[in-house]
Amino acid sequence: MRTHHCNELRESHIGQTVTLIGWVNTVRDQGGVIFVDLRDREGVTQIVFRSEENSDAAKASHKLRDEDVIQVTGQVVKRLEGSENTKIGTGSIEVVPSELTIVNKADVLPFQLDKELSNEDIRMKYRYLDLRRPRMNRNIRLRSVITSAARRYLDEAGFYEIETPILSNPTPEGARDFLVPSRLNPGRFYALPQAPQQYKQLMMVAGLEKYYQIARCFRDEDLRADRQPEFTQIDIEASFIGQNDIINLVEGLLRSMFQAGLGIDVGTGFPRMTYREAMDIYGSDKPDTRYGMKITDLRTVFANTEFKLFRGMLDGTGVVRAINAKGFAGITTGQMNRLNEIAIQAGLPVKTLAFVKCENGEYKSPLWKFFTDAEKEALIACLHIEEGDIVFFGAGEVDTVSTILGRVRTEIAAMMELTKDSTAFNFLWVVDFPLLARDEETGGWGAVHHPFTRPNSEDLPQLEAGDYANVRAVAYDVVLNGYELGGGSIRIHEKDLQAKMFEVLGVGPEEQAIKFGHILDAFRFGAPPHGGLALGLDRIAMLVAGEDSIREVIAFPKNNKGADLMSHSPCQVDFKQLREVYVQSTWKDPKATPASPGQEG
Ligand code: AMO
Repeated sequence: MRTHHCNELRESHIGQTVTLIGWVNTVRDQGGVIFVDLRDREGVTQIVFRSEENSDAAKASHKLRDEDVIQVTGQVVKRLEGSENTKIGTGSIEVVPSELTIVNKADVLPFQLDKELSNEDIRMKYRYLDLRRPRMNRNIRLRSVITSAARRYLDEAGFYEIETPILSNPTPEGARDFLVPSRLNPGRFYALPQAPQQYKQLMMVAGLEKYYQIARCFRDEDLRADRQPEFTQIDIEASFIGQNDIINLVEGLLRSMFQAGLGIDVGTGFPRMTYREAMDIYGSDKPDTRYGMKITDLRTVFANTEFKLFRGMLDGTGVVRAINAKGFAGITTGQMNRLNEIAIQAGLPVKTLAFVKCENGEYKSPLWKFFTDAEKEALIACLHIEEGDIVFFGAGEVDTVSTILGRVRTEIAAMMELTKDSTAFNFLWVVDFPLLARDEETGGWGAVHHPFTRPNSEDLPQLEAGDYANVRAVAYDVVLNGYELGGGSIRIHEKDLQAKMFEVLGVGPEEQAIKFGHILDAFRFGAPPHGGLALGLDRIAMLVAGEDSIREVIAFPKNNKGADLMSHSPCQVDFKQLREVYVQSTWKDPKATPASPGQEG
């Protein structure tokens, strides 16, 4: 239907007759001359209707409205001197059509496409219009470009792309499962995969050696800007490799994706930090290292303190730590309240964070009077406190203090817009994660990554001895600018060790046989050493596109309640459909009109 796309014609095409098709981006009537910006996914071309040059087409052009689909055939001419547009590729030419076909008229749009729209619900309801906007069009294109770069890279590295079932069994990744009833197996359910974890390991047992998949994953968990109920992983597994092999492979992979998407070289050899260091210095296992505000331990400063709270912590198992928010002494009451709220959510046992600020040469703090002169001096030196700074303290058990100060640090950075103009891509590996952590709800031990993660061989004695808090995993996360991009591990490939791990997790032999019998069985038949990782494609696309929500890089995302406002999913299903899959629903919407007789599930 066209000879060229709308971002193709240049001065070299002047004199040619061309046909273009697309949407009316804008239409301007300037004293009888009609200017149309014709748009397709590649860009825009200016079309000019002058009645003396193209009377029929010019007449018809008066009827054009935004977003009509039109086709024009005409001559490429040079724009009048002074009317060139240097901002677009086609800015030095225009097309004077001899023919205009209105292919399909558009109704008035619910919102203007050339304006940013803050109401996300409207954007989602009319997502197909939202996606027409240049920013969204660019995001979707970038996603496609980096996805194919990933495929190319992994293909070249000898990986097979293999699909795994969507209708499968639960695999523990820490979220709830989405369940699908089976009509052919009354009372039984499939679970949508939270990740293809077990299948990819079974492929290693199958001898396929190098696998990847652009895999859809499903997790029923609380949603936020970087979490969707369905999302996409670049899922990788390989045999006969160690942690460094995976790290090198993934660095090259990310490098090729950023090269393809942004034309920049992010290099390889990303810094590495242990989980312990990340928690101690940044209070997070996915630290944003684009700014400092590091956590400082104050044990030496307060070694002899008589301030009761600190004394108690330092004599017991606790710590006293602080961060210095440089230049943030002018913090507003609202911001202070917000920080207190965040600290309380993170485990602060009192209502307000302890602080010291330095304003007009004075130190203001509810705590200041409890410190000796030597302590004050040491504190100022240790945290480099200067005019305009504010320091926040945390005193308590190390994990709680880290979490509190880590969250406060991130929030202050957002309040101070510390990364607003940053173009840095601070990649980082966090390694040596703990294998196990106490589950606060059950009091038992849970896997920090998943149950298939290999314990560090140096820590096997601790595992045997039941000293679970001190067993490290051969697990690694790749982090970028405060986002966890991906995580993986070297796996357990021995049946006995895997059974032991299940046992520690409170999964007894019977449950093991029911839920994981296939994988334990497979490990009996010569399972090779193997490991892998999965990258969150949505998050990578978000960061490549410079967005702050993955919804901006997913064509049809869900909102924070897991709903698609365009198609109204999830929807109600009728009784007959439920009966066919042997599902009874007793849930009733109190606001719904009463169901007609026979409709109750
Ligand atoms: P993990 O659970 O760490 O590992 O997931 C890997 C990566 O997937 C992305 N991700 C998400 N992205 C968007 N929305 C979500 N709800 C969501 N959940 C996770 C993150 C994360 O780093 N099977 C293991 C991998 C392995 O061990 O090989 C796994 O799934 O970017």
